[in-house]
Amino acid sequence: MQSNQVIVTGGAGYIGSHTVVELIAEGYTPILIDNFSNSHPDVLIGLERILGKVPELFEVDCCDAGAMDRTISDISKRGNISGVIHFAAYKAVGESTEQPVKYFQNNIGSTATLLDAMERHGLQTLVFSSSCTVYGQPAEIPVDESAPILPAESPYGYTKQVCERLIQDAQASRPEINAALLRYFNPIGAHPSSEIGELPLGHPNNLIPYLTQATAELRSPLTVFGDDYPTPDGTCIRDYIHVVDLAKAHVAALRWLQKQSGVCEPINLGTGTGSSILEVIQAFETANGLAVPHQLGSRRPGDITAIYANAEKAKSLLGWTAEKSLKEALRDAWNWQLKLGTSD
Ligand code: WQD
Repeated sequence: MQSNQVIVTGGAGYIGSHTVVELIAEGYTPILIDNFSNSHPDVLIGLERILGKVPELFEVDCCDAGAMDRTISDISKRGNISGVIHFAAYKAVGESTEQPVKYFQNNIGSTATLLDAMERHGLQTLVFSSSCTVYGQPAEIPVDESAPILPAESPYGYTKQVCERLIQDAQASRPEINAALLRYFNPIGAHPSSEIGELPLGHPNNLIPYLTQATAELRSPLTVFGDDYPTPDGTCIRDYIHVVDLAKAHVAALRWLQKQSGVCEPINLGTGTGSSILEVIQAFETANGLAVPHQLGSRRPGDITAIYANAEKAKSLLGWTAEKSLKEALRDAWNWQLKLGTSD
């Protein structure tokens, strides 16, 4: 019988797949639930090359209440379930302003469906993939978890605010629930093996996958969305965190939750350092010895000016801090792009 089983929804996704690797490294047995709506089955090939085996996966839509109930029921009957990590969601700020209903239906619907199935089948430990976008544009940066939740600047950020509230209310009604609401800043990079990484299906909305595709001459030059923000160089500032560091934080959070009783804790996962778009471009060019074709353009709806983390709580509560540098993440991102292919 497998011990320390962990249900990982969205386990074939970008953050999910990297977390699967770190879970196994720490002696857990991940069980993936994914419908490949925002990921690709080839991720399983990459995972097999890293792990030497293909992790178990149920191809299920997390919004499908019947299928989720049957799947969670089957898994929970095995016993030895350490917890659930819920990644399954859409996560592009820009895209969410164009398709808000798709984001509400998937991000909120999947969380409500999962909470219901967990209650039915007695699962009580939940690590939730939240986001720094719940803060809106914080009045003070670095932002800590006590910052007020301001009106979201995008439908994506709003779905994460609603999901956090769903989990908080579920925990209040079921005190045995232990939940960590992990507020990611900007995940970037790829596994150092280049066997897994960010696989945006179609036009990449996020900065780094577009930057690497533009550098690989697979796309037109990168457009910097606005250079008239009130920042030192006029471009937006974000806290870019290596995806492997982020994945390790999920294992630390799970391990911490297993020792708790009746908690529902928001926790920032960032490096604590802010970088502007132009600084990221410069760091990429230095790290990889390449020029990034780019141009200045107008602002993107939904963007905030600047945000980066106060990451002290993750350090004190989980004993976790980000270890990898921005340049290391950008080198890993480029090596992953080379694996995916360039124009020549
Ligand atoms: C970053 C910056 C853009 C593309 C992300 C995730 C979200 C959440 C928060 C986890 C912005 C600029 C981008 C481009 C650009 N993380 N940009 N040209 O919007 O901060 O949100 O982090 O939950 O899930 O999406 O990330 O990479 O889209 O943008 O200038 O072609 O890069 O304007 O300032 P964002 P992003």
